[in-house]
Amino acid sequence: MMSSLLTLPSTFSRLNLVPNSLVVIPYTFKLLNFVKSHKQQRLRPLNYPLLCFPYSPNSSATQFSTSSSSVSPKSFNDDLVVLGIETSCDDTAAAIVRSNGEILSQVVSSQADLLARYGGVAPKMAEEAHSQVIDQVVQEAVDKAGLTERDLSAVAVTIGPGLSLCLRVGVQKARRVAGSFNLPIIGVHHMEAHALVARLIEKELRFPFLALLISGGHNLLVLAHDLGHYTQLGTTIDDAIGEAFDKTAKWLGLDMRKSGGPAVEKLAQEGDAESVRFSIPMKHHKDCNFSYAGLKTQVKLAIASRNIAAKVPLSCASSQDRSSRADIAASFQRVAVLHLEERCERAVEWALKIEPSIKHLVVSGGVASNQYVRARLDQVVKKYSLQLVCPPPNLCTDNGVMVAWTGIENFHVGRYDPPPPANDPEDFMYDLRPRWPLGEEYAEGRSEARSLRRARVHPSLTSLVQASLQQQR
Ligand code: KG4
Ligand code: ZN
Repeated sequence: MMSSLLTLPSTFSRLNLVPNSLVVIPYTFKLLNFVKSHKQQRLRPLNYPLLCFPYSPNSSATQFSTSSSSVSPKSFNDDLVVLGIETSCDDTAAAIVRSNGEILSQVVSSQADLLARYGGVAPKMAEEAHSQVIDQVVQEAVDKAGLTERDLSAVAVTIGPGLSLCLRVGVQKARRVAGSFNLPIIGVHHMEAHALVARLIEKELRFPFLALLISGGHNLLVLAHDLGHYTQLGTTIDDAIGEAFDKTAKWLGLDMRKSGGPAVEKLAQEGDAESVRFSIPMKHHKDCNFSYAGLKTQVKLAIASRNIAAKVPLSCASSQDRSSRADIAASFQRVAVLHLEERCERAVEWALKIEPSIKHLVVSGGVASNQYVRARLDQVVKKYSLQLVCPPPNLCTDNGVMVAWTGIENFHVGRYDPPPPANDPEDFMYDLRPRWPLGEEYAEGRSEARSLRRARVHPSLTSLVQASLQQQR
């Protein structure tokens, strides 16, 4: 489809690469753009206003409203049914969600077994695992919802951040479904989806709100001003907290079949959290950034110094060995979460200065399913009379519901692409965004350490959305 060769986000994303004379910026906004080749894209600037888009699922969706006002889930009265597909990391997930928030089906195929066997995500292996199950996962989601693809209003799919090879599997599948059934398609930011799924479960949650997004690959504190508009208050300068949980579980010889976090959380309940004196990361940095690499090293050293036989499964360990492991798990968890607490306190203070009307802290992403994390952060928000919103655990870890819901929110403000062709050519180049920030950094929160690692980062979702809104004014 020629019309999708040059759409706004890509035009913007390549502004620094493409001579200005070659760039024509269409006045419309399309979030998801798949291009045949970069070369073609540079040479064929093209306007393809959404207003010409022939697809018309219902009257209100064709108004293509792109207003920047807050969207409340309550105002969603169109009956949309959206398929969400998620393959950015190690879970293959699909779900079907109605625009009134009803979850019609949810299917997750986990690669935790592979993770347990190899101790981490190997991109090529993860890609293969996604490819093997993607058709089945999507089919099951459709069947469980008691629907056929013809009943869908749109397809939403994660396009970044994540592993390119893995993202590709989901995007290919989404395009195949959308193309075959003439459905619009919505490209979703994985971390925005982790945040917005909270609006599906908490109908009172309106913009602006503060969000702490904690997963295997990300540690983000963001101020959500509006849909597609985020200020990044803090991020990790090295590892994310989920990675620290996973490595701790691995080094303690825990069963990682449900990923490392739940195993550490469970064992920590038996341990003395004060017994190992780990130091809290970044105490002297008065910002909202995170670091977990040093804490990982402290855990490794503590394990080595206690002669723990990590090769022996926990179930066969002596009671003394078990209790040493439990003490390390509990002490690690306490300090890992203290780091979150400190950063959240500061972030709430910053956020209240920027957006005094915030009432909620959303905590989402896999690590947010940890009950200790929730309890401790609940204490933090109470000090500021805010409310903590945590999605249920199965919506905190990677899932298709959050992608479908984010698709619905974007669809309602006209941010979607027309149906792709039924078959993509073999050499088709997908617009995947492995490193894709959610928002611009808050000036006070900028970290020198991280600015060195900014190569090959896609322009942030917020900058793309804001640029497109400005074009329309
Ligand atoms: O959001 P998610 O499912 O995938 C990514 O986007 O990374 O997060 C996965 C991470 C893993 O590191 C996993 O160990 C961690 O979330 N996790 C937990 C818990 N459940 C999952 N960490 C601590 N406690 C838990 N209960
Ligand atoms: Zn995630």
